[in-house]
This record gives sequence, structure tokens and C-alpha cells, in this order.
Amino acid sequence: MTSNRQPIGIFDSGIGGLTAAYAIIQQLPNEQIVYFGDTAHLPYGPQPAAAIRAYSAKITEFLLRQGCKAIVVACNTATAAALNYLRERWPDVPFIGMEPAVKPGARATLSGKVGVLATNGTFKSQRYASLMHRYAKEVELLENPCSGLVQRIENGLLNGPEMETFLRGILEPMLAAGADTFVLGCTHYPFVQPLIEKITGPSATVINPAPAIARQLQRVLEERQLLSPELAGAHRFYISGEKGNFERLASGLLGFEVKVEAQVVL
Ligand code: DGL
Repeated sequence: MTSNRQPIGIFDSGIGGLTAAYAIIQQLPNEQIVYFGDTAHLPYGPQPAAAIRAYSAKITEFLLRQGCKAIVVACNTATAAALNYLRERWPDVPFIGMEPAVKPGARATLSGKVGVLATNGTFKSQRYASLMHRYAKEVELLENPCSGLVQRIENGLLNGPEMETFLRGILEPMLAAGADTFVLGCTHYPFVQPLIEKITGPSATVINPAPAIARQLQRVLEERQLLSPELAGAHRFYISGEKGNFERLASGLLGFEVKVEAQVVL
């Protein structure tokens, strides 16, 4: 029997999913989170879908062993590669995935041009093709896989002239082509959202889907009567590789001191 006091599992290749965890903690402050960053296998973006499916299955097994009542795949690349597979393999577990906000982006644009920042794995996926087909018939999507951005963020490079130059190389051609809306289609990218917004300017719209995912999680838990009625317990954090900058970056983003419980070899 699943009880409403069990935690919510959240995973990503590294620190990216923390941007979703942040929104979830804001939206659902009673919930306890068990976070898994697969830092040993980072980055997911350039890897074959089969490898990402295998990592995602191992992480899901781990999170279920921790007693999680629902799992948020807080990674667009893993959602694209593995969400259908995870739902088939664990039909009783509620999984919430993340995908580029193409639909809100298409609604928000006035110029008809939307910049999409994601990873190669996401762009090449069937799931992304289907999103384009359903929601982007009337708009033009300007795509960039932002090669190297995930690693830079994992290395703690969140601002400063080097990061600004790197982001300008991605965003300025999109701005020059007329994009007025930018979709953050990788959960790492909201870490540099202030710098992205500085470059795109105040009239552009930058969409971080994390708050929408937190609301979606709330709806799913409500439907199943799984919302925790009171503070369920302390959040826990696990990684599969070296600690690196994980604790520092996680603490900075979440606003409380994050300590990794253990390095878990998958
Ligand atoms: N954060 C992940 C995403 O949302 C992927 C990062 C990576 O390439 O590992 O797509």
C-alpha cells in the first residue's frame, strides 16, 4: 500500500533536476524529496537512448527501494529516452516527465519564432518530433543543442564574462533571426536563466517549465490521494559519481544546506 507520507523521487543526470526540485519544494512544502543525480554518467545529452533507458531504470529501482510514492524524471533527455519504458515497466508508479515547453512557447511568441535550448538527445527524439508536429505548425523553432553548457554549469560556471560570451554565441543568432521567446528544454539551463534574460532583454519571454511540472505533480498526487498532509521528513540527496560542486550548487539554488547522503554505484 502506498502511503501519502512516502517521499517523491526526483532524478537527473546531475544538478539539473534541482531546478525542478526547487519548484516542487515551493509548490508542495509538505513533501519530502529523495533526489538522485547520476553524476557518474553525465552528460546524458550525447549518449544513445538505450544507455539512458538503462540508467533511468537503475535509478528508478533505487528510488523505489527508498520508498518513493511518485517519480519525477527531472531531465528532458531521460524523459525522451525512457519515460514510456519506465511507465510500461512500473505501471503502478506515477511518473512525471519533463519536455521542452514548445506548446507554451508557441502560444507566447508574437514574432512566430521560438528559440529552443535543449540537448541533442532531446532534439533527436520521437517525443520532440511529436511535440513539433502537435504544437509548432504555425511557428518556427530555432534549435540549439548548447554543446558544453551542461558541463559548464556542473563546473559551477553560472555567471561571469566567459559564460556570457558562451551564451551570446547561442542566443544572438536566434535574436538576429527574430526569436522573441526562449524555451529552456534542459533542466540544467535555468541555473543560467538570469544571464540568458540579460542577453535576450526585457521584451523576450524565457520559459522554465519547472513550476508547471510542480503543478502537474500536485494534480497527479491529488488524484491518487497521495499528497502529504504534514511535513513528511528531511530531503535526501544521492549521487552516483564524485561530489564535485554538487553540494555547493545545490545549497545555493535550494537555499538550505545540502549534504549528499551517499555515493551510490548503480
Ligand atoms: N538535465 C538534462 C535535461 O534536462 C540533461 C543534461 C545532460 O545532458 O546530462 O535534458
